[in-house]
Amino acid sequence: MAMLTRRTLMKGALVAGAYAGGIGLAGNLGGSARAKAATSLAARRTEAMLTEHGPTKGAMTYGDGEVPPVLRLRRGDPFALRLDNRLDEPTTIHWHGLRIDNRMDGVPFLTQPYVYGGDGFDYAFTPPDAGTYWYHPHCNTLTQMGRGLAGVLVVEDPSDPAFDAEIVLNLRDWRLGGDGQFIAQFRPRDAARAGTFGTVRTANWRQSPQYDAPAGGLVRLRLAATDVTRILALSVEGAEATVIARDGNPARERFALDHLMIGPGQRLDLALRMPDAEGTVAVLRDLRGTKPAALASFRAVGASLKRDVRDLPALAANPLPEPDLSAATQIPFILSASAEERPKDGICGSLGYNFWAINKVPWADDSGDPTAPLAEMKAGRTYIFNVENPTPQLHPLHLHGLVFRPMNSNKQAIRPHFSDTYLIQPDEKVQLALVADNPGDWVFHCHIIEHQKTGMTSYVRVT
Ligand code: C2O
Ligand code: CU
Repeated sequence: MAMLTRRTLMKGALVAGAYAGGIGLAGNLGGSARAKAATSLAARRTEAMLTEHGPTKGAMTYGDGEVPPVLRLRRGDPFALRLDNRLDEPTTIHWHGLRIDNRMDGVPFLTQPYVYGGDGFDYAFTPPDAGTYWYHPHCNTLTQMGRGLAGVLVVEDPSDPAFDAEIVLNLRDWRLGGDGQFIAQFRPRDAARAGTFGTVRTANWRQSPQYDAPAGGLVRLRLAATDVTRILALSVEGAEATVIARDGNPARERFALDHLMIGPGQRLDLALRMPDAEGTVAVLRDLRGTKPAALASFRAVGASLKRDVRDLPALAANPLPEPDLSAATQIPFILSASAEERPKDGICGSLGYNFWAINKVPWADDSGDPTAPLAEMKAGRTYIFNVENPTPQLHPLHLHGLVFRPMNSNKQAIRPHFSDTYLIQPDEKVQLALVADNPGDWVFHCHIIEHQKTGMTSYVRVT
């Protein structure tokens, strides 16, 4: 396994490792303190300071700190990390959004064995694309992610434009009771609907944290929606926020953030132009639902840098294959409800229900009896997934290992971009166009984890 080494702290030469503290406030991109390089990342139990009631027991984290570290990789540089499982149950790591070797994809049964407690697994890959990604388990996922196992992963590109600061926010909820301790992670009747919502909302494991940033400066705000259930509608109040990338990939046309919905699994990169007056505070809000929430805030410090977002150079495009629509093969994917009992077996934690299906097949999960792939694709060819959602719920659909271009929705205007996760609305029909350029078995599932774990999962095979 390759060693992770501490590199120079010059701009663009970044540690392929972890921040020790884990809080994703990187300060100035050029000169922030880079933490010690790590060759292994522990998955372990911890106590978390989430509420005023003192530590929450039975949380799970990655690494040595309280909060899972922001892993910093560099596009085109080999990365290697040993998962050191110190939990008393099996786990794996999935690198959400990264187009890497199928054997590194972290899906038990399909791509790798379980990693039992006390064991480890060596992940090694070279990220082909820059952007904001994240990492999380793919085993007993509702419990493990619900209790904390979800971290942000940043792939930097030496040609990334310079910002005055960078702030990474891991946005998620926790299912805690009034005493600040975990309560049941899900209710079956909610799993059959929108999913079971958390009770405490956090950014980087803090309720509405505030960050300082240079007045009048441009901040790169990297947001990752890592919650198991909640869909957000994001706006920033008190500052201009421009969407510069979605789900890792640069937006082809930038646009002002205004009630943009993102579902679990999705990421958003914003250029936040801080207010000029020292002490002024801008607030990131979720405006969805009956209880709008202030997720985090940003306080202007120092004399105004008087920056203009229009001067910000474009992000370098990732080397993504452009679908050839003239030669595309169409594949239908129809989401549906299902109502089958299923055994509460499975090493990776079956929830005991099938509420959902894709093309009428509820996923057998880790029952040891995997279903056939929903589609077999030939490497290098273009495919169009014709996805229909006749259910009354939204579903953030995530495809591993490949990226697609959403097109032609009957419900929403689509701004051109590449993505790995599409938030489909009720009664929506959408086309996801992609080049099957990465061989392997790739899972396609809803990222509302209760939906994923009760049937709304499948996979496609690229040979
Ligand atoms: Cu982010 Cu299959 O997952
Ligand atoms: Cu869903």
